[in-house]
Amino acid sequence: MKLADNKATLSFSNGSPSIEMPVYSGSVGPDVIDIRKLYGQSGMFTYDPGFLSTASCQSGITFIDGDKGELLYRGYPIEQLASHGDFLDTCYLLLKGDLPNTEESASFHKLVNNHTMVNEQMQFFLRGFRRDAHPMAVLTGLVGALSAFYHDSTDINNPKHREISAIRLIAKMPTLVAMAYKYGVGQPFQYPQNNLSYSGNFLRMMFGVPCEEYKVNPVLERALDRIFILHADHEQNASTSTVRLCGSSGTNPFAAIAAGVACLWGPAHGGANEACLKMLGDIQKMGGIAKVGEFMEQVKDKNSGVKLMGFGHRVYKNYDPRAKLMQETCNEVLAELGLENDPLFQLAKALEKIALEDEYFVSRKLYPNVDFYSGIVLSAIGIPVNLFTGIFSLARTVGWIAQWNEMISDPEYKIGRPRQLYTGATRREIKA
Ligand code: CMC
Repeated sequence: MKLADNKATLSFSNGSPSIEMPVYSGSVGPDVIDIRKLYGQSGMFTYDPGFLSTASCQSGITFIDGDKGELLYRGYPIEQLASHGDFLDTCYLLLKGDLPNTEESASFHKLVNNHTMVNEQMQFFLRGFRRDAHPMAVLTGLVGALSAFYHDSTDINNPKHREISAIRLIAKMPTLVAMAYKYGVGQPFQYPQNNLSYSGNFLRMMFGVPCEEYKVNPVLERALDRIFILHADHEQNASTSTVRLCGSSGTNPFAAIAAGVACLWGPAHGGANEACLKMLGDIQKMGGIAKVGEFMEQVKDKNSGVKLMGFGHRVYKNYDPRAKLMQETCNEVLAELGLENDPLFQLAKALEKIALEDEYFVSRKLYPNVDFYSGIVLSAIGIPVNLFTGIFSLARTVGWIAQWNEMISDPEYKIGRPRQLYTGATRREIKA
């Protein structure tokens, strides 16, 4: 970051001296006012619940222009990355800052493949869970447990440890997600098969069984790979900020990423595609497309508590670019599987059309986000609804680990410690 030409001056109506604060510019996007010395100079904190106006860090990984509907990983538009290389090339880009050349790509793929198996003992840990446990509960536990199995990569001050833990997390997440699924349905775990692509391998670990040969469908393989690319990073969202805050205490990367998995579970974040598909199912039960108008009235009624899931975003005040790509993938997958007339897809399109023209949504700049169509695609592939957020956490792991690594390497890195505006009881004494 560099100092901008202007400075910010904060003045007070009670005559206290005004305070001058430096302003910094990034490479693109809004400037920031540096308030780090504010408390020391004024005895006051700033108040910004939900971080509506606060940059919590500097980062060179992902940039979003919410008004334009633009998403860049290391400067490359998501639309180009979605059709260039594969997910592991995107992982390389996010981790290292540049796209790999042919040799770098091949050796990175080999490196990740070398780590796809998990310690055999992990299955016994997994077997302690109830079979009907939510996969996100299982995954939070499994990812956290990696720190108990891979002690040799938990020294955060050792760059080699940081690198190997990043590769381990990226390589093992598909194995863990598939294991969580297989455990729930009572089928044997499938070991990874490293001659397959990252997403092909995941499909096989999910849907393969030992008694039959599994053939990867290339359309579904490509669709899944695209889902992974689209979800790989999204700058300082709730789960990434959680990973940074958790990791800022110096905890090991597996523990920090487990915190990210836990955060992602919530319906306002990674749980939205699950919530969106449930919403489509509920409207279908109410009577389908004929009831869309009635449903929209509920959404617009503040007292109903009903939201149009898969719509709206804290940052995008335009069409989420990932939603467009996801809609494209949705068309491809449904065509491949002969599901073009899928009622939920038709319903989603009808809802989208109404919402994009309705004053309520237009005036609030509410557009479809990535989750509006991703649930339909995942469901068509055969992924059960309660595993959707698990797929999201698999894909986001690279973003979390890249952001965590960036934080640890930042000379300005400090433990995160927000302040508060205290509104509770003032000091009082217990009566004798
Ligand atoms: N349906 C109906 N009204 C909405 C919706 C929606 N989906 N989203 C926002 N609004 C209204 C909200 O009620 C408010 O209205 P008013 O100004 O009259 O009070 C206005 O739009 C602004 O909303 P907000 O809640 O202040 O916006 P936010 O930035 O705090 O929330 C959000 C963003 C994503 C949590 C919210 O839009 C939402 O809950 N959407 C549905 C859940 C969803 O799809 N989440 C996935 C996000 S994308 C995946 C990811 O990156 O994690």
